[in-house]
Amino acid sequence: MKIRVLGSAAGGGFPQWNCNCPNCDGLRKGRIRAQARTQSSIAVSGDDEHWVLFNASPDVLQQIRSFPALQPARALRDTGIAAIVLIDAQIDHTTGLYMLREHRQPWPVWCTACVREDLSVGNPVFGVLGHYSGIAWRELPLQARFAIDGAPGLGFEALALTSNAPPYSPHRDRPQPGDNIGVTLVDAASGRRLFYAPGLGEMEAHVWEAMQAADCVLVDGTLWTDDEMIRLGASGKTSRAMGHLPQSGPGGMLEWLDRLPATTRKVLIHINNTNPILDEDSRERAELAAHGIEVAYDGMEIAL
Ligand code: MLT
Ligand code: MN
Ligand code: ZN
Repeated sequence: MKIRVLGSAAGGGFPQWNCNCPNCDGLRKGRIRAQARTQSSIAVSGDDEHWVLFNASPDVLQQIRSFPALQPARALRDTGIAAIVLIDAQIDHTTGLYMLREHRQPWPVWCTACVREDLSVGNPVFGVLGHYSGIAWRELPLQARFAIDGAPGLGFEALALTSNAPPYSPHRDRPQPGDNIGVTLVDAASGRRLFYAPGLGEMEAHVWEAMQAADCVLVDGTLWTDDEMIRLGASGKTSRAMGHLPQSGPGGMLEWLDRLPATTRKVLIHINNTNPILDEDSRERAELAAHGIEVAYDGMEIAL
């Protein structure tokens, strides 16, 4: 299977339009060595022809333009995207659906019942799209292997992650299993596995099990420290309160990744623009390299 990182940044992208943190300002003014990044999405294929889009980023049009495999040009109106999977109902993962409204048939969108509710009530994207291409909802099962029509060669297994629903969700602060998921993607031919979880707030036993069983983990790289946004004056919330395990500190992502076998490929994704790992010359980036951990970038490809 081939995994193409379409967008490696968290909500807001990098640089974020209104942000003048050392990273955003540094990138704009050429003061730091770093790459701009669009908002969170990957595309996956088992045959290099049929692609599943994981998350519909607000930057999806730019992402499609920069990855020609998604436009195979077989007909007047065409796309290489066979289906869309949503891992939560957050703005950075769902509002790109509006940009895909010209599709010639209802989009097969795989998500849990909780996410569907948020996108029907709190932020009624599905209702609005009913006036355009329409959405053909497919209930995404938890803890069971499933296949996606039109995506040959791939198997999927989703698990619930403890996190929070978006601010506009009818059940904000009353999290339900299925508000956020992680997904294992399995190459049917080789049996090789990718674990993908751009929003991972807590290392629960079933999550750790899925990470240990994977050949590659593509996981939450949002913030370096738990109080990063608070110290910058950018937000009042800790990383954990936002549903993102920080990389550094006790119980942080680095400690966990260190416990995985040396043969497991470890890649961070969904990186917030404030995170010092975006600066390729930073101490934190060097620390990741010393631990054998990669930082996803737009256009990165992983073959499993
Ligand atoms: C998050 O994962 O916390 C988000 O990136 C929030 C957002 O899109 O605003
Ligand atoms: Mn996000
Ligand atoms: Zn910034």
